[in-house]
Amino acid sequence: MTTATASDLAINGGTPVFDANVPFMSVGLTDKDIAAATEVLQSGMLRAASKCAALEEEFAKQSDANFGLTCANGTCALQLAYGSLLERGDEVITPAWTFIATVSMLVAAGAKVVFCDVLEDSYQADPADIERLITPNTKAIAVTHLYGIPVDIDAIEAIAKKHNLKVIYDSAQAHLAEYNGKGIGAFGDACTYSFYATKNLGTGEGGMVTVNDEELAKNMGFLRSHGETGKYLHESIGFNYRMNDITGAIGLSKLETLGEETNRRRAVANIYADRIDSIEGVLRPVPTAGSNPAWHLYTCRVELDKLTCTRDEFCAALNKEGVPTAVHYPKPLTEQPVFADIAKASDEPKVAKKLASIVFCIPIHPKLSDEQANGVCDALAKVAGAFAK
Ligand SMILES: Cc1ncc(COP(=O)(O)O)c(C=O)c1O
Repeated sequence: MTTATASDLAINGGTPVFDANVPFMSVGLTDKDIAAATEVLQSGMLRAASKCAALEEEFAKQSDANFGLTCANGTCALQLAYGSLLERGDEVITPAWTFIATVSMLVAAGAKVVFCDVLEDSYQADPADIERLITPNTKAIAVTHLYGIPVDIDAIEAIAKKHNLKVIYDSAQAHLAEYNGKGIGAFGDACTYSFYATKNLGTGEGGMVTVNDEELAKNMGFLRSHGETGKYLHESIGFNYRMNDITGAIGLSKLETLGEETNRRRAVANIYADRIDSIEGVLRPVPTAGSNPAWHLYTCRVELDKLTCTRDEFCAALNKEGVPTAVHYPKPLTEQPVFADIAKASDEPKVAKKLASIVFCIPIHPKLSDEQANGVCDALAKVAGAFAK
């Protein structure tokens, strides 16, 4: 392909790569999912019952965890994990580059948040920075497998072991991701998941915590449901973070194809990686060594020193070629007003700050064809060529 010039770009009146936009994500229910939900509706058993229990068992098994607990959403999953593993006042190290809930739920649990920076190519929490931030008061590490890419689990578990810290993995974007050949549920004290409508396993709202310790699973169960240890016997303060069986049935139905769908995401990611490596001005995500990501999002970076445009101008041109984009996230958490006081007491996360102006996500989902994935790369090459310095 010859290098495109500015006048070739669709944004300037040229012919777009795609006639119609490539879908950014694929969401929705199959007839089988709807039948599963209908069966529950017809049964009248709407509360968490056999469908939630089956989803817990199957999801935990597929994630290499011993126990699963369904809950209302991924935010509740974090509250269950933090509420069971942390004490108020515990110092917890967490990345400045993640979705807000990873950190806001730490604040809600009464933890003292310490922001660490992330690695530029994998976007994941930087183990060296975590280690640097450890104090005698540090009690836990709460990190995200962001975009579905596992963090450097070996490094984080080694730090945790050395300093006797708890580890919570926010896996909301990482269903069925693997590390060193095992499901991510095999690692840490708890993994939390979201089943929000757009997640790799989307039930509308919904969530899950997986753990490996039986006692912890039992205590989380009490926290999930009013601290009820027997019929109307309450031994601790709990909440109502429960799922329901309609959601459970949809999740269970969707879980049957999640493995296949995750592999299709991986095949698309392989096409992207091969092609993007030869596009000047665009960098692809580089997964952590030993990881097999779930590719919830495929997040690239513009190399601003090689281009004459900003990230937003690059994305605007790409959108006109028929490739929708998204920015996850426009700010590091240290720049969110709600965390202003914590940010004041933290070092500036230089990488997270830089990522906010260079990252952009391109479409990735199980329904994307090889042809569409290659077309996305053609559009990236076209826009990068036209904006080349
Ligand atoms: C990394 C991460 N953590 C937590 C959550 C919260 O999940 P939910 O929206 O199901 O409460 C999300 C959802 O976007 C997420 O991406």
